[in-house]
Amino acid sequence: MGPVIEVRTLAGDEPGVDGLMAAAADLVERAYEAIPDGWPLDEDPGVRRRRTRGARRAHGYRAELRDVPSRVRSAEVAVALLDGALVGCVTYVPPGSALDEHHDGEPSFRMLGVAPEAGGQGVGTALVRWVIGRARAGGHRHLWLYTAEPMRVAQAMYQRLGFARQADHDWTFAPGRTLLAFRLDLAPGGDH
Ligand SMILES: CC(C)(COP(=O)(O)OP(=O)(O)OC[C@H]1O[C@@H](n2cnc3c(N)ncnc32)[C@H](O)[C@@H]1OP(=O)(O)O)[C@@H](O)C(=O)NCCC(=O)NCCS
Repeated sequence: MGPVIEVRTLAGDEPGVDGLMAAAADLVERAYEAIPDGWPLDEDPGVRRRRTRGARRAHGYRAELRDVPSRVRSAEVAVALLDGALVGCVTYVPPGSALDEHHDGEPSFRMLGVAPEAGGQGVGTALVRWVIGRARAGGHRHLWLYTAEPMRVAQAMYQRLGFARQADHDWTFAPGRTLLAFRLDLAPGGDH
């Protein structure tokens, strides 16, 4: 039998949630650190203007990646267990969440990470399928995400799952820092 992957929501009031959130923070950070020629986590990334709110926040992206508790509060966080071990995490961002990066009125997901030693076993795909299920259940037409040029494994995975580039929605939030937009069409009858 192959590895067993379980994806489940992290509830803010479940027993042991603090330890689970800390473990999720560690693995997401390690996943991003492992990207070849990856996204700078410490250089001021850093002022990401949120068009929807006009707010400006300056911080290292590492701190934001590690802040699983605020994602549990203002969005929906899922973790993936591989044969019982916590190895993956993703955040589903419903419309209107404080974490929404201007996909006005439509859901998105953010901060997908799989522990590098658990890669290539279907965990990332399972997490994205969970997100797709959440967006479908909400009756939404589209599901969005931003990624970045170095995240090539992720981009190939998104394309295999049916996401398509939406270059006219790319977001340059600082000089040399462009996020690449992808969108999945959730029209009824789609097979994802
Ligand atoms: C992207 C990521 C979540 C994929 O997780 P994963 O658990 O390895 O994904 P899967 O096992 O479902 O693999 C997806 C596909 O990528 C391939 N793949 C996985 N790791 C790979 C690697 N290091 N190099 C090349 N291909 C790889 C798999 O073979 C699989 O292809 P297939 O569907 O043809 O078999 C993980 O690599 C990661 O955490 N990356 C760093 C963070 C990141 O880029 N996040 C996305 C932000 S937008």
